[in-house]
Amino acid sequence: MGATYDFTGRVALITGAGSGMGEEYAKKLASSGCDIVMVDIEPNNLLRVHDEIKRFERKMISFHIDVSNYKDVYEAVKKALHTFNKIDILINNAGITGTVPVLTENIEDEEWDRLINTNLKGAFNFSKAVIKPMKERKYGKIVNVSSSAGRSVSENCGSHYAASKAGILGLTRQTAFELAPYNINVNAICPGIIDTPMLRAVSEESSFITGASFDLNGGSLII
Ligand SMILES: NC(=O)c1ccc[n+]([C@@H]2O[C@H](COP(=O)([O-])OP(=O)(O)OC[C@H]3O[C@@H](n4cnc5c(N)ncnc54)[C@H](O)[C@@H]3O)[C@@H](O)[C@H]2O)c1
Repeated sequence: MGATYDFTGRVALITGAGSGMGEEYAKKLASSGCDIVMVDIEPNNLLRVHDEIKRFERKMISFHIDVSNYKDVYEAVKKALHTFNKIDILINNAGITGTVPVLTENIEDEEWDRLINTNLKGAFNFSKAVIKPMKERKYGKIVNVSSSAGRSVSENCGSHYAASKAGILGLTRQTAFELAPYNINVNAICPGIIDTPMLRAVSEESSFITGASFDLNGGSLII
């Protein structure tokens, strides 16, 4: 967890920051000098991470919202911009697997909608909300968390999960294409099965990369 990059003066918004990889992204960025905006649907986890990150003495705000609700997303981004004046980095990390394992013929309508709305629409919502302010500043880094399931298949989750993560890759390519003229990089990472903290590639060194997806799976999926 040693700081590799200097993010002093940067502001990062991380969704799903109350647990797992999102929590680690928030801690890693805060320990590297970044001010932090955290979003999660679970208030207690958010409070715990907020308390733990205090030791890095960065400015922080947290929003207990559902990423699938655009009105709440827009309000959170508005308040974050009011507090920090900018958002440099957006990590669309919030995600769910739904009830697993499940075969396609057994996926309920509501469960399909819940997965797509959280995993895909959530990333769309936050991208939509930050694009205008990022364009105005001609600066931004957006990292969308997909999955090996989005590039291939999922042995553990269902087609709703795989479809949501494949959709993330389409969202990434299209927004990268649209935003390239504004110095905004959009990339995706595709973790395999991860139970250790990790962080990748939201740095100044990434300015020549956009529209890419990075497989983080220890070689278990080779395309
Ligand atoms: N862990 C893995 O093996 C793995 C593999 C591939 C991809 N991923 C992806 O990485 C991301 C993080 O996964 P993780 O393993 O750290 O999971 P996690 O469950 O530990 O963390 C996900 C966080 O997202 C939050 N969240 C869920 N729904 C939300 C909503 N509607 N609004 C706001 N916040 C919400 C949860 O409360 C939780 O804090 C997910 O997008 C996941 O699909 C994980």
